[in-house]
Amino acid sequence: MKGIILAGGLGIRLRPLTKVTNKHLLPVFDKPMIFYPLETLVDAGIADIMVVTGGNSAGDFLRLLGNGREFGLRHLHYAYQEGEGGIAEALSLAQFFADDDLLCVVLGDNIIENSIRPYVEKFKKQGGGAKILLKEVPDPQRFGVPVLEGDKVLKIYEKPRVAPSKYAVTGVYMFDHRVFDIIRTLEPSDRNELEITDVNNRYIEWGEMSYDILEGWWTDAGTIESLLRASNLVAQRQKKKRQTANQEHEQTAKEVAES
Ligand code: G1P
Repeated sequence: MKGIILAGGLGIRLRPLTKVTNKHLLPVFDKPMIFYPLETLVDAGIADIMVVTGGNSAGDFLRLLGNGREFGLRHLHYAYQEGEGGIAEALSLAQFFADDDLLCVVLGDNIIENSIRPYVEKFKKQGGGAKILLKEVPDPQRFGVPVLEGDKVLKIYEKPRVAPSKYAVTGVYMFDHRVFDIIRTLEPSDRNELEITDVNNRYIEWGEMSYDILEGWWTDAGTIESLLRASNLVAQRQKKKRQTANQEHEQTAKEVAES
């Protein structure tokens, strides 16, 4: 299985923060945003990863991430998106890297509390088609919103005025290699982009889309409000980790003292 991080775009909703730099290089608490999706893939056991970038400061990703050694990787692949063709167009640039393998695609501004490994394992067992991860949110109309019936997704609406459910389609997508055939047939949307939601709807029409509800918190970081929220959530997670480590340390010290 291969991993793809989509980290292009102009980050218009984050202006002026993104006037001269790339959204995915901005800090989320104590790390650049791009570190989080990379960690998400590595934690899921995926070591063959491509970063698709573009827009401002695209060359800085190479300096920041290098060959991925900091993440325990031996190699990182890069592709460059010219212009602003949308998420599905960015994904199409990974075709030669992807070959016939299954793919886990993560949007570069999606930050997730827990490991996605269990969902990745389930998709491997599924063996083909597609899988999306959903999360209940207070403002679904900001995202792709699914219509659900039992364990089936009937359709996804991209940023609908009235949300048909309380779930957001998160920016973690699993596809088989036919995703590239689908992208070739897409027409640009009203915002003049090739939409990932249109890709997902094609798999739904084929009856080959599964979904899971993501455990733990999830946020995007593509607006000023969600960027702040992402930093706060990561800060809380670090604090919790430190507290657990301290408790474990104290417990061990106590056991040693008593022995
Ligand atoms: C994109 C997708 C949307 C998805 C969201 C998750 O939206 O188009 O379906 O719910 O990512 O972060 P964007 O924020 O790029 O407009």
